[in-house]
Amino acid sequence: MCGIIGARVEGDATPFLLDGLARLEYRGYDSAGIAVRTRDRALTVSRSTRRIDVLREQVDALDRDGLTGVGIGHTRWATHGAVTEANAHPHLDCGRRIGVVHNGIIENADALRTMLSAQGHVFRSDVDSEVIAHLVERTLALEPDLLVAVQVATAHLEGSWAIVVLDALSGRMVAAAERSPLVVARAAAGDFVASDVGAIAAWADTFVALRDGDAVELADAWVWTSGGMIVPPPIPQPSPFAAAALDLGDHADHMAKEIAEQPEVVAGLLDRRAAAVADGRLWTDLGLPGFHRLAVLGCGTSLNAGAVIASMLRSTGRVPTDLIVASEADRAVLAPGTLILAISQSGETADVLRALDRFDGRFPVLALTNNLHSSLARRADAVLDAHAGPEIGVAATKTFTAQVVVGVLAMLSALVTSGRIERRQAQSLVGEMHRLPGLLEGAYQASATRIPLLVTSVSAATGFLFLGRGGALPFATEGALKLKELSYRWAEAYPAGELKHGPLALVTEGTPVVVVDNGEPRLQANIAEVAARGGFVITIGGDDADIPAVGQEAGRRRLRAARSADRLPGLDAWGPLEAVVPLQMLARELALQLGCDVDKPRNLAKSVTVE
Ligand code: AGP
Repeated sequence: MCGIIGARVEGDATPFLLDGLARLEYRGYDSAGIAVRTRDRALTVSRSTRRIDVLREQVDALDRDGLTGVGIGHTRWATHGAVTEANAHPHLDCGRRIGVVHNGIIENADALRTMLSAQGHVFRSDVDSEVIAHLVERTLALEPDLLVAVQVATAHLEGSWAIVVLDALSGRMVAAAERSPLVVARAAAGDFVASDVGAIAAWADTFVALRDGDAVELADAWVWTSGGMIVPPPIPQPSPFAAAALDLGDHADHMAKEIAEQPEVVAGLLDRRAAAVADGRLWTDLGLPGFHRLAVLGCGTSLNAGAVIASMLRSTGRVPTDLIVASEADRAVLAPGTLILAISQSGETADVLRALDRFDGRFPVLALTNNLHSSLARRADAVLDAHAGPEIGVAATKTFTAQVVVGVLAMLSALVTSGRIERRQAQSLVGEMHRLPGLLEGAYQASATRIPLLVTSVSAATGFLFLGRGGALPFATEGALKLKELSYRWAEAYPAGELKHGPLALVTEGTPVVVVDNGEPRLQANIAEVAARGGFVITIGGDDADIPAVGQEAGRRRLRAARSADRLPGLDAWGPLEAVVPLQMLARELALQLGCDVDKPRNLAKSVTVE
């Protein structure tokens, strides 16, 4: 969603601001702007409701000689107030001396706006963020120190904020954060501030994340305050965004690259974690109490990953699980002895954070995230790092796979510790998981040859059904989510047995029905029901499937022989994880054939920071 960049460099700040904004594009936005201090101590502001490239053209047309190296920039994803230039950041005070960029929501903005208007402040936009510029202006009339003025101004705010405030008169720049991410970095080129380390990855090898209540002045020597007290600046951490991670290499887009990286990501995770599963260390190192029930909390793809982890815990450990859509958490009732597993690749999803507020510290929280510096990681009792590396495509791909693998390993370790499974059984299950990189690679190769042609046959379809049974169902759900977010076609997932209870009415001649075939014998009857109505069945499964990407032939035979999916061992109990690869590739290929932008689907954002 919204993104922030600030720079304090030698020469002209605009190339840094524009490049930073371009790196924030993947988060999703619908307007963007920058403000740069001029040599005659004013602010030059450029805003656009179009792409960053258009903003770049606007800035190129400016007289750049008069600009300094101090500036701020923002990408806005509209929530309150229409997509207009006036509503785009940076926002200014009445005197155009103070420029502000803001991420988050000011919940008491209406009351502050009324109070400030009554005192003579004139507002130029409809957005909550503008009150911050006027509050700083009002405070500066009494308190000349910008750092203090920002702290006084933020004391009036309710809600969440990551802000950067630029004073044109003094050239000083102050960043502050409360429940919204913000990082600062010192690099050879100068000082930077950003809402996302990725925005400054090209210049900064290390960074420091602000904690709630921190305010920092980016000066020759940083002045760092926490809760109003001056404290030493924290030690910088290495940036996870090696510049190379942002290169596409031979791939056409980030999504293609991230799909292809999955075997390597899983191999890396197994190297890192597998040895600590069977002796229970992976679990005990987290320092969490034992649990009788697991509540998985998340949204979208992360929730689907949670459904796979929960399926493993039920089938292998007979542990009861709840799956909680984070935005509906206020209706959830958790039993005593529940552990909350909160899953979010970004760690900044507002629905997840707000759901945790509602559970109010009554249950231990284990976070599973790809961002160890996120709000979620900071507030959980323990954190599992998904270790997927930077994911730039808005559609989650490798983070899904990494979340599943890390979550399954941690839960297996918990099962050993609680005595629900034997150490030897855990060892054998982890041994089976070592097949996953090969299975994922095999699925990738099979899909690369088959999917483009298959997609050509269904590219005119307006709607798709996805079916699965048992352990395959969360993958069907993820396949449908991927397809709709990338191709803008309707797609729904159902347990295959539910088909005859309603969705079968949708199936006519040529309706594409994607079946994730984990070998469950009853699927064949469901496939026949579709075929009898002229549906275009696409099976993702073993050797006899349209896309032979599920490498569990032994498992499939066991499965066919088994009376109940509950009794299946190993990967078969919760897989087929490798099926996600063709599902991702199907969605991407359809989107490309329909002319959609696969890295930046419309209306969506990588980090969803509003409820
Ligand atoms: C995934 O492709 C989607 N963009 C979306 O469903 C996403 O998974 C969801 O918004 C949750 O995000 P999170 O993992 O950052 O919490």
